[in-house]
Amino acid sequence: MKHLIAPSILAADFANLQRDIEMINNSDADWFHIDVMDGVFVPNISFGMPVIAAINKHAKKTLDVHLMIVNPSQFINTFKKNGADVLTVHYEACPHLHRTIQAIKAEDMLAGVSLNPHTPITVLEDVIRDIDVVLLMSVNPGFGGQSFIENTYKKVIQLRDLIDKSGSKALIEIDGGVNADTGKQLLAAGADVLVAGSYVFKSENPTKTIKLLKEL
Ligand code: DX5
Ligand code: ZN
Repeated sequence: MKHLIAPSILAADFANLQRDIEMINNSDADWFHIDVMDGVFVPNISFGMPVIAAINKHAKKTLDVHLMIVNPSQFINTFKKNGADVLTVHYEACPHLHRTIQAIKAEDMLAGVSLNPHTPITVLEDVIRDIDVVLLMSVNPGFGGQSFIENTYKKVIQLRDLIDKSGSKALIEIDGGVNADTGKQLLAAGADVLVAGSYVFKSENPTKTIKLLKEL
């Protein structure tokens, strides 16, 4: 499978959101990556339901919603109603991760689990066959524009091995500090989906930058 590109809306111009959504619609991007932060799980607040509903009104591609919030299970149905296609929760925020994964799938969404940079791959051993997407954080979650943590390459290789050996069909998605250089190495290590915020939206020509990432 050709790898997927998921531009992160966090780096878009919120005063020109519709323009930036149309740019993604008309680009080689595959998913819209949408970061929800609650100021508790991470030291930042991004946006919530009304903004996601507004994005959903115009977006013509998969909505990949990344929840950096505590107690995400209380909102699963609400995110579905607002247009989420992929719903990713953090391992570190879910004491009953297996139940949360099943609840996401019961709403007919793809279930994602995200790991912070310090969390080892091995914690996923007993749920890997239930998961559709594993989102590896390659920065500490909370902010765009941070630099890539090199230890991520090793984790991608370990995760690829776990997925292949277990017969899981999970996609490996990487989030944080992705650019053409780190992206190329991540794909070589076995990544399937690249999230990119600043690298796309702070570039002179975001459409061209997305194409460049898609052609890596
Ligand atoms: C960080 C978010 C990322 C962020 C990535 O907590 O989960 O999705 O937008 O931004 P860049 O690509 O700028 O590192
Ligand atoms: Zn994210």
